[in-house]
Amino acid sequence: MSSASQSKQELPKGAFRITRENQYNAVPKIFRSYWIKLAEKNTYYNKTFMAEWADGLENELVLDAGCGQSSSLSRRNTPLLYLVGLDPLPEDMKINNELRWRVQGVLEALPFADNTFSGIHCDSVFEHISDPKLVVGEFHRILKPGGRVIINTNSVFNPFMFPNKFLSVKRREWLKEKLHITSEGTYPAPYRINTKRKLVGFLRRAGFSDIRIYRWGVPNVYHPRWFLVLQLLMELLAETPLFCGLKHRLMATCRK
Ligand SMILES: C[S@@+](CC[C@H](N)C(=O)[O-])C[C@H]1O[C@@H](n2cnc3c(N)ncnc32)[C@H](O)[C@@H]1O
Repeated sequence: MSSASQSKQELPKGAFRITRENQYNAVPKIFRSYWIKLAEKNTYYNKTFMAEWADGLENELVLDAGCGQSSSLSRRNTPLLYLVGLDPLPEDMKINNELRWRVQGVLEALPFADNTFSGIHCDSVFEHISDPKLVVGEFHRILKPGGRVIINTNSVFNPFMFPNKFLSVKRREWLKEKLHITSEGTYPAPYRINTKRKLVGFLRRAGFSDIRIYRWGVPNVYHPRWFLVLQLLMELLAETPLFCGLKHRLMATCRK
């Protein structure tokens, strides 16, 4: 029996364990080489790029803003000795044992003095922010001069994200259940800062410089298959400059 089918048997009915192998197997043959290209780019941004961004911050105070249950910075093997996690949910942070310090709070009113941190990492949180001006202003305030920021978020133009802008969490969960779509937990997502123009505009007005934008995407839902195929077609379309806004992931780096 293959390891894939063994691990499948261990799971409760309807559950799907996401591994690179079973993601690959779920992709129709015609898309496989394209999927490998997407997955490699994803690995590059999540590992190599992240390690380069964190280079030199090993002994500096770095904030993981909206760290949740698991710090994606730690998952990315960046040896940050002074990583502080902040999240409004203490129960989630308790599970996050990769952080040296945990602080309960919100990005709109950061409980830190001016010029404290050398780096801020913020992954998958900006889609939940209702007052972006306040948040980027707070980032600027708590950063030391020359301090760096990395923001990873979802693009609002991605059609698989777009409905989130209008549907309540309850409606979204109901719709996902009806369409048999399984994905990770949901938080309210007003998407106020999730286009390149808005992200750059808010960061520039807060006083940041050296603002760079990156886009990439890899499907995040593998069942049902029709949904996966739609995502792959969308990623393909988004390879063209005209439709690049459709790319799933939007990332900004900048400096104070
Ligand atoms: C999708 S999770 C991402 C968690 C983690 N950053 C990661 O990449 O795995 C979104 C997180 O943002 C947090 N969050 C939502 N609104 C926030 C706010 N206004 N201030 C701080 N954190 C917030 C949530 O509590 C949640 O932990």
